[in-house]
Amino acid sequence: MKSIEDLSLAGKKVLIRCDLDVPMNEAGEIADDHRIVSAIETIKYAIEKEAKVIILGHMGRPKGKVTPSLSLKPISERISQLLHKPVAFVNDCIGDTVKTEISKLKSSDVLVLENVRFYNEEENNDPKFSESLASLCDVYINNAFATAHRAHASTEGITKFVKEKAAGLTLRDEVEYFNRSCKSPKRPFLAVFGGAKVSTKIKAIKNVGKVADSVIVGGAMANTFFAAMGMEVGKSLCEPDLISVAVETATWFKENDKELVLPVDVVISDKLAAGATTSICNIDSIPKDMMALDIGPKSIALFSERILKASTIVWNGPMGAFETPEFSKGTYDIVDAMCETKGLTVVGGGDTDLALSHKNAFDKMDFVSTAGGAFLEMLEGKELPAIKALS
Ligand code: 3PG
Repeated sequence: MKSIEDLSLAGKKVLIRCDLDVPMNEAGEIADDHRIVSAIETIKYAIEKEAKVIILGHMGRPKGKVTPSLSLKPISERISQLLHKPVAFVNDCIGDTVKTEISKLKSSDVLVLENVRFYNEEENNDPKFSESLASLCDVYINNAFATAHRAHASTEGITKFVKEKAAGLTLRDEVEYFNRSCKSPKRPFLAVFGGAKVSTKIKAIKNVGKVADSVIVGGAMANTFFAAMGMEVGKSLCEPDLISVAVETATWFKENDKELVLPVDVVISDKLAAGATTSICNIDSIPKDMMALDIGPKSIALFSERILKASTIVWNGPMGAFETPEFSKGTYDIVDAMCETKGLTVVGGGDTDLALSHKNAFDKMDFVSTAGGAFLEMLEGKELPAIKALS
C-alpha cells in the first residue's frame, strides 16, 4: 500500500477522505475532536506539498437525506482553526457547484465538501457516484481508517476510477501499529478486552488469542465466562446464549497453552446508578440479588502486573461501568497501568478512548486508534475493504 508520501502532489487536486464523524453536543458544538486532530497531519502534509486540498467525509447516519445537524460546516471551521488558515466550505460533494469551487483553488488552499452520506449512493457504493467523486481529483488519498470496514463509494468504489491513490498518514499508522502489535509483536504480548458483551468481542478475542501470549477478559463480558464456569452471576449482565462459546474459548486457550486471565473479584451493587451502595466480593460469591459492575482491587492488581510486565499490549473495552463514579476505578487504574508500562501500548474503541481522555492519558499511549468498528474488525482478522482497495 502506497502512502501519501510516495506521491507527488504539487499543483494537483488531491481529494482526502477523512474521518470527520465526531460527536456533537446539543448546542451543535464538537464534543470530541480527536479524529479531526488526527487528520490534520495528513492535510498539513498535502498543504506543504502545494496540493489543492479537497476534504471529503461523513458525519452520522443521515441515510441519504440532507440533515442540517450533520453538516460538515462546523467541522470545516475546526479544521481552519487547527490549520491557522482559512478553509472554504461547499454545501455539496459532487456536481457543478463543487467543480466550480475546486477550480478556484490555488496550491495549498483547502476546501471541505458537505457530508457525503447526504447521498444514498455513498453507502450503496454506487459506481456512477464513485465516478463523480473521482472526477473531482487527480489524486485520491484515503485517511479514513474508522470507515475502512465499509465498502462505500468514497472509501472503496472511488478507487476504481482514480489514477493515483494512496493511504493518508493516519490510515498508514493505523495499519503499521496493528502490524507491530498483532502481527509481529515483541513478547510477551498481552491483549486486554473489556466491555459489555462477549457476542461483540468473541471473534476478536479468539483471533488475537492466536498470536497473544495472554488475554485478559474484564468488564461485563467476564460474567458470561463466570457463568460458563458454573458460578452464580446474580443480576449481572450475562449472555446465556454465549456460555457454550465461552466454554469452548476457555478450553481452546488451555489446550493451546495460552493464558486467559479473568477477574478474581468484582465491585457489586443492586443497581447501576450514581450514589449506589457498593461492596467487593470474590467472583464465586456474587449474591443472587446483586450485579457485578467493575473489577475489584485484587483483579486490578493482577491485570496491572500483567500490563507492566508485557512488551506489547493491545487494549479494547472498559473494565466496568466507568461512566458512573462508583464503578470507574477498575478502568481508570488500568489506564494508569497502561501509562506506566514500558511496553508498546495500542488502544482502540470508543469507550476505551473516552476513559483515556477522562484521565488525560491520550498522549501517554504509543498509539490510539481513531476507530471503533474498524479497529475491532482488524482484531477479528478481517480484511478491510477500503484498505484492500488501496493495495
Ligand atoms: C465510526 O464512527 O465508527 C465510523 O464513522 C463509521 O460509522 P458507521 O458505523 O456509521 O459506518
